[in-house]
Formats: sequence, C-alpha cells, structure tokens
Amino acid sequence: MKHYGVVPEAWGPFAEGNHGIFTHPVLTKIGEKYGKSAAQVALRWNVDRGVVVIPKSVHKDRMEQNMDIWDFALSEDDMKEIEALDLGHSEIVNHYDPAFVQMIHSFKVHD
Ligand SMILES: NC(=O)c1ccc[n+]([C@@H]2O[C@H](COP(=O)([O-])OP(=O)(O)OC[C@H]3O[C@@H](n4cnc5c(N)ncnc54)[C@H](OP(=O)(O)O)[C@@H]3O)[C@@H](O)[C@H]2O)c1
Repeated sequence: MKHYGVVPEAWGPFAEGNHGIFTHPVLTKIGEKYGKSAAQVALRWNVDRGVVVIPKSVHKDRMEQNMDIWDFALSEDDMKEIEALDLGHSEIVNHYDPAFVQMIHSFKVHD
C-alpha cells in the first residue's frame, strides 16, 4: 500500500468492541504506564503505524478520550507486545478467498 501511496484506515479501530479490547490486559497494562486507557493505546498504536482511525462513540467523554492521544508515545517494546496480539487473519473478510479479491478488483474508484 505504501508503494502505491495508499493510506490504510482501520475498519473498526476498536475491533468493534470485540475481544474485550477495552479491558484487554496487555493494552491496559501499557496504558497504565502513560495514564491512558486501553482504548487510547489501541488508537495510538494504529496512528503510529500510519493507519487512519475513525473511532465511533455516542458518549461525549469517550469522544474526548479518543481525541486525547497526542501527549504520549508508545515504546518499541510496547509496539512489539501489541503486534504479538495479531490473530493473523481478518475477522470480517477472507483476503485469501479468490472470489473476494476478484470482487475488490471489480470496484472502480475513478476514471
Ligand atoms: N465496522 C464496520 O463494518 C464499518 C463499516 C463502514 C464504516 N465504519 C465506520 O468506522 C467507524 C468505526 O467502526 P465501528 O463503530 O464499527 O467500530 P469501533 O470504532 O472499532 O468500535 C466502536 C465501539 O467502541 C465503543 N467505544 C468507543 N470509544 C470508546 C472508549 N474510549 N472506551 C470504551 N468504549 C468505546 C463504542 O461504544 P459507544 O458508542 O457506546 O461509546 C462502540 O461500541 C465508525 O465511524 C463506522 O461508521 C465501520
């Protein structure tokens, strides 16, 4: 994607709230070092990897929290620890399914 100048965006930056992400032990432990929530750690992790995040919340305090991620930085060890949580596959679509890839290739973004 970098090669083609494509900026990735998180489909759901909090995994749509799955996997107990807001109380996840690794994200919570890392957040405690910086006085941040697991949610803020998740957002910062994505942003630091160059992934655009559009977190959704209907709560004002959470919206404020989700924007308050610029006054701390994750260490290399933090990044590695979070990276190790990767499930190795998407939970939404199967990118290895030829039919899915074919469908994506049929989209026309512009002339
Ligand atoms: N996921 C998709 O399939 C999809 C597709 C197209 C577009 N989008 C867009 O992408 C954006 C994000 O997707 P998404 O809403 O599916 O998933 P998401 O942002 O990963 O997760 C949203 C969930 O996180 C909760 N939340 C947000 N901030 C929180 C915080 N600081 N602490 C605790 N809980 C928090 C929200 O609850 P509360 O609202 O109750 O706070 C909601 O249940 C949305 O704007 C959506 O419209 C998503």
